[in-house]
Amino acid sequence: MKPNIKNIAVLTSGGDAPGMNAGIRAVIRTGIFHGRNMFGVQQGYRGLIENNIIPMNARSVSNILHMGGTILKTARCLEFKTDEGMETAYRNLQANDIDALVVIGGDGTFTGAKRFSEKFDVKVIGIPGTIDNDLYGSDFTLGYDTAINTVIEAIDKIRDTADSHDRLFFIEVMGRDSGCIALRSGIASGAEAILLPEKFTSVEDLISKLECGASTKKSSSIVIVAEGHKHGGAYEIAKQVEERFDHYDTKVTILGHLQRGGSPSSFDRILGSRLGFAAVNALLNGETRQMVGLRGNEVKLTSLDEALNTHTFKLEDDLLEMASVLSI
Ligand code: F6P
Repeated sequence: MKPNIKNIAVLTSGGDAPGMNAGIRAVIRTGIFHGRNMFGVQQGYRGLIENNIIPMNARSVSNILHMGGTILKTARCLEFKTDEGMETAYRNLQANDIDALVVIGGDGTFTGAKRFSEKFDVKVIGIPGTIDNDLYGSDFTLGYDTAINTVIEAIDKIRDTADSHDRLFFIEVMGRDSGCIALRSGIASGAEAILLPEKFTSVEDLISKLECGASTKKSSSIVIVAEGHKHGGAYEIAKQVEERFDHYDTKVTILGHLQRGGSPSSFDRILGSRLGFAAVNALLNGETRQMVGLRGNEVKLTSLDEALNTHTFKLEDDLLEMASVLSI
């Protein structure tokens, strides 16, 4: 049975990601196309608790496709994890007569959405939006493609100076629990080694790889370190390597939050548009507690439960092996 949904709100939560604006635009315009009243919640779940809910129309989302960040703003809201916070949020939704929510974010966002929806029977659909690409059920998350392109642009520049000075650079990229950015950017920039949170690489193995390169006259080397690597961040690993391998002058660069900004790539704009469109259609078809994701270039639904609790290894082992072979 199709639900009687009249008023739909959209929010972005957790770390911002390029492409979120394309998602917001698609949600608002698809809802309006279907004759629904559309709302935007500012600052994610915090905006629900503080009743920062604004009506939106087709023109509210004009000229935002190319913009990084999120026009609705975002937050990491601890209060929404409490019963009191959720109850206040629900009262505000009721006061605004909102029947359904589209949430754009990562695993923290979906965990909140799932709990909220189970507790109060609010209809929710999630759009995966995080540069980390760490959600099951979508081959790609919004922002991941742009972030990789931002990272390789930075690494290319570092390679110029590394090569000019015959230096070894350790470059730290984002991904507390996910090595997706590190792996893909490492392949695309020809990094000599890639250290991931999901795979243990010993300092000994790293040094032997670097020694091998030095003995075959590599003038510079680049090691990509995902921030969640077990040995610690790039500074810590660089220190351990430097103590035992002094062939190169060593430098460290932490790319940090610049990876989250910038104009979204065409891929992220199209992905945001497809997932936003699909999210509203899913709600209007009676779906709830589902994530819309891209699988094999088709938009598919995955339950929030499955998206959150399936811990398959998303990194392709063969790519890691290939990266190692191609960087000899
Ligand atoms: O989840 C996206 C992400 O950018 C992670 O890669 C990173 O560990 C984290 O957010 C940083 O969060 P914050 O901006 O709150 O410091």
